[in-house]
Formats: sequence, structure tokens, C-alpha cells
Amino acid sequence: MTETRTPVPDTENLNRLVPMHIAIIMDGNGRWAKKRLLPRTAGHTAGVKSVRRTVEYCVKKGVKALTLFAFSSENWRRPAEEVSILMQLFVSALESEVQKLHKQGIRLRVIGDTSVFSVKLRRKIEDAERITANNDRFDLLIAANYGGRWDIVQATRKICAEFSAGNIEADDINEDLLQSQLSFSDIPHPDLFIRTGGESRISNFLLWHLAYTELYFTPVLWPDFNESALEDAMHDFSKRQRRFGYTGEQIAQMTSNA
Ligand code: FPP
Repeated sequence: MTETRTPVPDTENLNRLVPMHIAIIMDGNGRWAKKRLLPRTAGHTAGVKSVRRTVEYCVKKGVKALTLFAFSSENWRRPAEEVSILMQLFVSALESEVQKLHKQGIRLRVIGDTSVFSVKLRRKIEDAERITANNDRFDLLIAANYGGRWDIVQATRKICAEFSAGNIEADDINEDLLQSQLSFSDIPHPDLFIRTGGESRISNFLLWHLAYTELYFTPVLWPDFNESALEDAMHDFSKRQRRFGYTGEQIAQMTSNA
């Protein structure tokens, strides 16, 4: 086996005060609704409005990509009625938002195992991806029926198929190859991860992609996540020193030379 190369960090990122890519676990919709004596699903409806606002803030603040965890592989365990309302929300959000996203130059992609969704939802996803495919101002990735472990397994399967077909050898398998088969390989990994709702977990989100991401947890419930909450997260990020395995002194030297 050849030695696996550790990816060299993009040292241009070291000085960056604005995260180029933010990934968010949008948690707290149910509690937001409960506090108002509303059904949990009302929290998800309010959550869609928060999605819309957050995309706008991110574009305004110069962020280039946003990945939102809309539905995890584990969310099927929720009551059937809640799952059904969430699916309807995805369909209606795609119907109402796609043209607006397109006009703003936003490219939309859905990552995850969408094969289990209804034909109607899959068509809406395909249409939205096709309509926005050539936009390059901002990338919006919606993780739906997504799990970080699922992503690594599906990438591994594709690599094994190439191996079985005789197209690659075991020594060809390295981090770059695995990365190239994951759900997205053309967008830099998230610089900043935000989880709302007060829990401090990654919950099987982007396990591979978050290796060097700065983590930020806030008690703000997702429907209450507003511009000032995003600013707090971005301000916190701007104070972090990202080291990518180097020492603090090496980073100081690199950033003073940059
Ligand atoms: C977590 O809150 C939220 C979800 C599982 C669903 C997120 C979905 C949306 C924000 C709406 C649809 C999104 C798009 C992109 C159209 P929770 O229900 O676990 O809240 P809790 O922890 O307070 O119970």
C-alpha cells in the first residue's frame, strides 16, 4: 500500500474572516412550537421562513455556500404525520422558492438518498436542480434523507465497483478518491458548522466534510435564528485560529506572509 497523503490545507483560508461555506443543523422547531402551544409541524412551517431568511443573510454577507440538514436518515423514526408534513413542506418550498433562487443566481442541490422519496418530490428536486444548474453566485445544498455514514458507504460502494471492474487498484484508493465520490466534491468543505437548538452534537451530518470545520452551538431555536444570531456565529468564527495540524506559531508566520 502506498502512504495516504494528508490533504494540505488551503492556506489562503487561514486569514478568512467570513466563512465561505456554512453548514447548519436546524434544530428546535418542535420546541419553538411547543412554547407557543402549537403542533410541532407549525414549528417546521416557521422553520421554512427561517431557511429563506438565512439564505438571504448568507448571500448578503458574502458567504458562497450553505448546506442545511433538512431531513436525516434517522428522521423516518418520527411520527408518520410529522414525516408526511415535512415532505409536503419540501414540495411546497421547492414550488414557491425555485424561481426566486434562480433569479438570485443560486444553484440548488439536494444531497442524500432521494431514491425513497415520492415521484412528485423527486420530480420537483430534479426540476429545481436543472433550472438552477448553471448559477454560480451561491450554492445551496439541502441534505434530505442524508446521513454522513450513508455518504461514506455510498462512496465506498462506487469505489469497490471500480475496483471489481478492474479500473483501479487498491493502491489507488486514497483520500482524494474517496472525497471525489462523496455527495459533493466540487465545493470546499464547510468553514463553519452551526447547530441551533442547544444540543452539542453532529448527529451523523457531514462526518467527512466537517473534519476541519469550526463548530458553533447556539441555544437559539431554528425559527428564531435571525440576522443577529448569524452575525454572532460569524463573529465567533472570525476570532478562531484555524490550524489544520500546524502550530499556532507556524500559522502566525503564514498569515503574516500572506
Ligand atoms: C429539527 O427540529 C428540524 C427538522 C428535523 C426539520 C427541519 C426542516 C425545516 C426547517 C423545514 C423544511 C426545510 C427546507 C429546506 C424546505 P426538531 O423538530 O427536532 O425540533 P425539537 O428538537 O425542538 O423537537
